[in-house]
Amino acid sequence: MTAQLIDGKLFAQQVRDEVAVNVAKRSAAGKPKPTLATVLVGDRVDSATYVSAKQKACAELGMGSISHQLPADISQAELEKLIKKLNKSKKVNGILVQLPLPSHLDEERVLQLVSIEKDVDGFSPINIGRLAQKGREPLFVPCTPYGCIYLLEKMGVQIEGANAVVLGRSNIVGMPAALLLVGKNATVTICHSRTKDLPSVIRNADILIAAIGKPEFLRGDWVKPGAAVVDVGINSKPDATKKSGYRLVGDVNFDEAKEVAGFITPVPGGVGPMTIAMLMRNTARAAEIQDP
Ligand code: GUN
Repeated sequence: MTAQLIDGKLFAQQVRDEVAVNVAKRSAAGKPKPTLATVLVGDRVDSATYVSAKQKACAELGMGSISHQLPADISQAELEKLIKKLNKSKKVNGILVQLPLPSHLDEERVLQLVSIEKDVDGFSPINIGRLAQKGREPLFVPCTPYGCIYLLEKMGVQIEGANAVVLGRSNIVGMPAALLLVGKNATVTICHSRTKDLPSVIRNADILIAAIGKPEFLRGDWVKPGAAVVDVGINSKPDATKKSGYRLVGDVNFDEAKEVAGFITPVPGGVGPMTIAMLMRNTARAAEIQDP
């Protein structure tokens, strides 16, 4: 192995410790706990797992969480009513609407309703618009891309002037990751399903962020020697040697890429823990903004 492993679990713990200290200071000053309202629509097992991990993290850091579990067939009007109520509630500092929503719901309308001061996911069009504009600052940066950049910076990877390739253009990861990298003066290429000759584009990347949800898609010989590889993928792969019958793999073929890259995140234990840590940081910040 030539690559240095980027230990997301360790960095996530550091962020969580910092947040816990800030939360404890606020509570010593008599302020209420920063509180996250989670909104889960329907019964997707993956979404339910993510939401309960977020609630658990709130409790571990001395923060509050309020859970809203809604039936898969809830109407747009009912969901919008709940968001408006959460926007007004003095008890709620951050609002997290777990995505994806069932297909009959208009995600864009829901996300644009979330008050920007409570938009701890950073998905409101105002926060994303500010992220895209020079000289403007969003109140909150989307948690997964925020975690990716945090890891690169902590590992001392030079972002300014680097060729960064983002594989995937989702609203949740790829696009905001690309905007963050541009904001840090990288030269950014966004690749997707129609990109021609993907391996040769990727071979030019000093920094590579893979977020397409295809197990072990990216091969080791596509990686530029010494590159920093951040793997956002969490895919399950059948594995008869495991009790569960499967194991988690990223979008990158780790065993191959680790022999070529300079830095690489493992799956699990890389970007995953950072997403929740950054959500906790954003929620604590939301409380600071609303009640300095
Ligand atoms: N679904 C997958 N990732 C995320 C995330 O970071 N936030 C929300 N709200 N939904 C998601």
